[in-house]
Amino acid sequence: MIKIEGVSKTYRTKTSEVKALKDINLEIAKGEIFGVIGQSGSGKSTLIRCINQLEKVDSGRVLVGDSDMTKLSESELRKKRRKISMIFQHFNLLKNFTVYQNVAMPLSYSGKGRKEVEKNVRNLLELVGLSDKLKSYPSQLSGGQKQRVAIARALANEPNILLSDEATSALDPETTHSILALLQELNRKLNLTVVIITHQMSVVKDICDRVAVFSAGEVVEQGPTLEVFTNPAHPVTRQFSDSLFQLDRIQDILSSAQIRDIVASGGIIARLLFNP
Ligand SMILES: Nc1ncnc2c1ncn2[C@@H]1O[C@H](COP(=O)(O)OP(=O)(O)OP(=O)(O)O)[C@@H](O)[C@H]1O
Ligand SMILES: [Mg+2]
Repeated sequence: MIKIEGVSKTYRTKTSEVKALKDINLEIAKGEIFGVIGQSGSGKSTLIRCINQLEKVDSGRVLVGDSDMTKLSESELRKKRRKISMIFQHFNLLKNFTVYQNVAMPLSYSGKGRKEVEKNVRNLLELVGLSDKLKSYPSQLSGGQKQRVAIARALANEPNILLSDEATSALDPETTHSILALLQELNRKLNLTVVIITHQMSVVKDICDRVAVFSAGEVVEQGPTLEVFTNPAHPVTRQFSDSLFQLDRIQDILSSAQIRDIVASGGIIARLLFNP
């Protein structure tokens, strides 16, 4: 579905040069939820902006389906981009527009009649669980509800691919969980391919089938999520993995003075799960 072959990208200003992506090779299968994780500045956002060509690559190919995105004309690209949607950390809703108008926005160029647009918008809002907020303005919604509106809007043109750049980073854990459940439901119901950029390990653990770990513009590790994090080979992956399994907390408990008391009272220090 998405194949990134030998992609490099350098940002140049008058005074500096940043190699944001260095010879990236990745393959994301149709219908998969693929995670991209890495420290700040490691090139994650640049990568997804290269997928929809909001950012031009210096070299390499970006295949989406059969098309090489780097070779398309502007009009072909516009058409192709309609099937690749994006959601963001700060939702990017139009604040003077109602929920209905925000979701209807992408459909205004679709050539659909008013009745059909209305039917589509109602269906989309039902899909994300916001049928009762049609007439509300973004300022009247919670963060999670705003992200649901953004997701409904992103689905308006029936995309095959949804790119999510830190979409849950501004949300509390419970709301994050509900948005992830929604993304998972959409992935299954619509066979949507989802690429999720995040710095939240829990997001990757909860819903990503496979993951790529970025460090300084390079993919340092990739594979099935459980495999990558139970057997991390690169120091950056190890850091993420430690934060996931909270090894430092276990270390603290083991070296604390209360360890005898905890054991004596039958307390649990760590629960080991065996995954054959
Ligand atoms: N338009 C730009 N001009 C110049 N440099 C840029 C530009 N966009 C990004 N960069 C640089 O490219 C590198 C990669 O940036 P990118 O935004 O892809 O990182 P990221 O992994 O998404 O980081 P974060 O987790 O903070 O969002 C960084 O060093 C950044 O400063
Ligand atoms: Mg980013």
